[in-house]
Amino acid sequence: MSPAEQIEQLRREIRRHEELYYVKAAPELADAEFDALLRELAALETEHPDLLTADSPTQRVGGRVADGFTTVVHAEPMLSLDNASAEDELRAFDERVRRTLETAGDVGYVAELKVDGLSIALTYDDGVLLRGATRGDGVRGEDVTFNVRTIRAIPLKLRGAPPGRYEVRGEVFLPRPAFELLNKARAEAGEPLFANPRNAAAGTMRNLDPSLVARRGLSAWTYQLVGAGVRGSVPTHADLLTRLDGWGLPVEPHWRRCQGIDALLAFCAEWRDKRNSLAFETDGVVIKVDRLALREQLGSTSKFPRWAVAFKFPAQQATTRLKSIQVNIGRTGAATPYAVLDPVFVGGSTVSMATLHNPEDLARKDIREDDIVIVEKAGDVIPRIVGPVLSQRAEHSRPWTMPSTCPVCGAMFTRRRTKSFGAARTARVRPD
Ligand code: IVH
Repeated sequence: MSPAEQIEQLRREIRRHEELYYVKAAPELADAEFDALLRELAALETEHPDLLTADSPTQRVGGRVADGFTTVVHAEPMLSLDNASAEDELRAFDERVRRTLETAGDVGYVAELKVDGLSIALTYDDGVLLRGATRGDGVRGEDVTFNVRTIRAIPLKLRGAPPGRYEVRGEVFLPRPAFELLNKARAEAGEPLFANPRNAAAGTMRNLDPSLVARRGLSAWTYQLVGAGVRGSVPTHADLLTRLDGWGLPVEPHWRRCQGIDALLAFCAEWRDKRNSLAFETDGVVIKVDRLALREQLGSTSKFPRWAVAFKFPAQQATTRLKSIQVNIGRTGAATPYAVLDPVFVGGSTVSMATLHNPEDLARKDIREDDIVIVEKAGDVIPRIVGPVLSQRAEHSRPWTMPSTCPVCGAMFTRRRTKSFGAARTARVRPD
């Protein structure tokens, strides 16, 4: 075998294992065996530098730190999705679709999980990853190619994809375990925590150091194809997802074809209850008309396609006992009350603290120490308190009042109107 053949064979083998490990979560090799293959390839490429190409799995992390991101104009605008938060809104969507298509029967849809990450547009040229860009304002995004290349779920080269240039769109996200590790490390280093995996992923994608991005463990799911020519041969979205998967692209596997509204509602109810079993954060279900020809008939508004809608899951709630209300002093001296809770499992993790925003909010909701309270998690690590369960309030209970002195330094609190918030905030007077 010639060195060129040897290198090509190794690359194919490594790409297959990358897909098994990072996309299918079904590795066939131990980490050390995979690393050995990569090292073998790197050694061959060092020996034959003329055979080194940018789509080689050894070339994911470039050596340099960027000094900024350039702006790119999307080939087609990246639209957003209209929302539905309740069953009747979903039914109304289905009725609109059927009215426009003038059909009395059930419409074929595909339901996918809505990934709580950030949208990404990947340009492939003859199957080789050329560019990765963020959504930005939908028309213009940022070129984040160097960071996208470090995401091992995203192939640098597609398998058996058609020639020409096209764009694959999807979502970049930080898997829950990677997010938890990241926040743990930040807590230990005394750095501010990310509120949720989406913020952490967005912050990571805007980092100028690709080697840091590579260490964060971002991943991706793809669900859309934009570009001349390639669409003709796939009549339905289901076919498209199957094709993207066949090219080695990451496709979230729980999507389902749903015939008519009742099948859609069943899918939404099923995943509302199962969402915490996933390794990534999902905040709803995206519903799409399956036949691409019907989509063309439905068209788009300037903001949303009329053939898709995002069903948002309700925030996850639980009740627990509020043990005490403490006051946190921020770096600027602003005092914010927070609740210490009996630990309770909600939204996929155990929480023992909740934000209370400000004393006004607390007074308005009449939240008291020792109350049984409803806590709600809407994707964020720190939940908020919806309110007390009054029927379970203890007889001895008293309204909570803000202490008059700072628990840290003992100085008197003063009240000040801050320009940025407009609302009265309590701040500590710095002792002279
Ligand atoms: S389809 C033109 N499918 O949700 C329609 N979007 O709220 C393109 N998102 O901007 C979007 N998961 O970033 C689609 N399975 C999914 C999605 C998804 C997450 C994001 C996407 C979009 C936003 C709209």
